[in-house]
Amino acid sequence: MAPTLAFDIATIFPTFFDGALAVGVLGKALERGLVEVRVHDLRSYSDDAYRSVDDYPYGGGVGMVMKPEPFFRAVEEVEAQFGRGWRVFLTPQGKPLTQEVCRSLAEREHLILLCGRYKGVDERVREGLADEEISIGDFVLSGGETAALAVVDAAARLVPGVLGDEDSAATDSFATGLLDHPHYTRPREFRGMAVPEVLLSGNHGEVEKWRREQALKRTRAVRPELLEGKD
Ligand code: ADE
Repeated sequence: MAPTLAFDIATIFPTFFDGALAVGVLGKALERGLVEVRVHDLRSYSDDAYRSVDDYPYGGGVGMVMKPEPFFRAVEEVEAQFGRGWRVFLTPQGKPLTQEVCRSLAEREHLILLCGRYKGVDERVREGLADEEISIGDFVLSGGETAALAVVDAAARLVPGVLGDEDSAATDSFATGLLDHPHYTRPREFRGMAVPEVLLSGNHGEVEKWRREQALKRTRAVRPELLEGKD
């Protein structure tokens, strides 16, 4: 069966992804062929003998800038083989990654994730290559790889069949537009902290009501902006 969602990741650290792609929900999805991830070493697309991927900045200043050629050549080779993909450039300047953005990404069949490092990436990558620029938050990572992994994980779990009923994406935090409600398992009392009575009551209606109230309460306390414009 052809995968429903394929990722091509362009990076100078291809081994970065090894551990995360081997375990858990993502590992299973890859094993079952529902999702495919191909990782490409930008150094093999360098145009010089030293396989260099960075150079000094025009205009001066500290730090190196990633050259445009390796990104363009990697994308060209990937697309010659697998067809045109939706090219996502991971940077702190991008639009914020939200559950809604993840849903729209998961609907595309082929995503090409471009990971930068060093002080920055030559502007021509943004101008002439990227279809969309995405940030995973208002903080600076050492590179786009951590962000790319977040995109792969969050988009893959939305592919039909990746999650079983027991942890269906429909009940995930944010799927409802709210933060998640609290969860408890045994023991009933742990170091003086008790499980709320309602969860032991067996009354499903009351349990649902309590969970929704808790989700609302948490959202109001921590992320009130998520409730704006809602009843
Ligand atoms: N690269 C560096 N920081 C990043 C961020 N916050 N989001 C996406 N890519 C990044």
